[in-house]
Amino acid sequence: MDIEAIKTQIACDLNDLKSIQALEGVRVKYLGRKGLIAQLTGTIPSLPAAERASFGRQVNELKTGLLALLDEKQKALAAWREGADADTIDIGMPGIAPELGHLHPITKIISEVCAIFRQMGFSVVEGPEIETEFNNFTGLNIPLEHPSRDVFDTFYLATKSTLLLRSHTSPVQIRVMKSHKPPLAIVVPGRVYRPDAVDASHSFMFHQIEGFVVDADITFADLKGTLEFFAKSVFGKDISMRFRPHFFPFTEPSAEVDISCILCKGKGCSLCGRKGWLEILGSGMIHPNVFRHVGYDPSRYTGFAFGMGVERIALLKYGIEDIRLLFENDLRFLKQF
Ligand code: DAH
Repeated sequence: MDIEAIKTQIACDLNDLKSIQALEGVRVKYLGRKGLIAQLTGTIPSLPAAERASFGRQVNELKTGLLALLDEKQKALAAWREGADADTIDIGMPGIAPELGHLHPITKIISEVCAIFRQMGFSVVEGPEIETEFNNFTGLNIPLEHPSRDVFDTFYLATKSTLLLRSHTSPVQIRVMKSHKPPLAIVVPGRVYRPDAVDASHSFMFHQIEGFVVDADITFADLKGTLEFFAKSVFGKDISMRFRPHFFPFTEPSAEVDISCILCKGKGCSLCGRKGWLEILGSGMIHPNVFRHVGYDPSRYTGFAFGMGVERIALLKYGIEDIRLLFENDLRFLKQF
């Protein structure tokens, strides 16, 4: 075997190398137990005695030289890899855009409704979710024996406590009237709580928007005009409205307000239960007793009030069939709005 030919072969093998694994392959090929160097060493005993020493020295030089070359190549490969790793941060690559979120459908309805009332000069006010029994009931002319005051219909904070989770947004009427003088035009969005079993149309927590106006000469005509502007802004100009007599302790007279069914336009379908009408809110002229509770003179002031369920408006407006979908935080649902 020609030592010079082997040197050339080594140079070729090392030149093409691209990886540490390949480098190991070359190391084994030459320095392994059955490698070329071992084979060369094995031929020494069969050489003529005069050549053995010089051949042995050449093999040794070859081995030392090869070790140095392998070492050098290994360092070069490591340096090259580091460079390659650095290059994987490609500053020319398009960035990963963060996904843009948007408002929850309930928040959207609240903003939309409040904006409509702001246009008419209303101010938006919020109240606490923990209320006193007085603000939630007594101040609103709801008598002690009224079933809604029962522990089965209201979340009291503790037995015999006069604090509760408000069951409607109407108590904010009491708060605002106690601290401000008329004229008032207020809308109140917020969460309310009732111990209802959860199903497609009930939840123990939901949202309401309360509204009320108080001044010297407020009439039922003001209530009708205001609510008509609101309903047409949300559901479209071509809906009709009707005021159905009803009872609420805090208003007299009281009415429930229906709009013509947005699906069948009044003909009767499964959404409106074949009635042609959809109930959207409760309303009425503020009861004189409410004014007495807040220290307003009922012979001087009149006012109207209304309250609506935000989920109900959202279900109708977006065609959602189950209230629970609004609270499950499933992005596949929420992304549709
Ligand atoms: N507070 C009522 C409820 O939760 C809704 C309501 C009805 C509010 C009539 C009003 C009103 O201000 O006048 O069912």
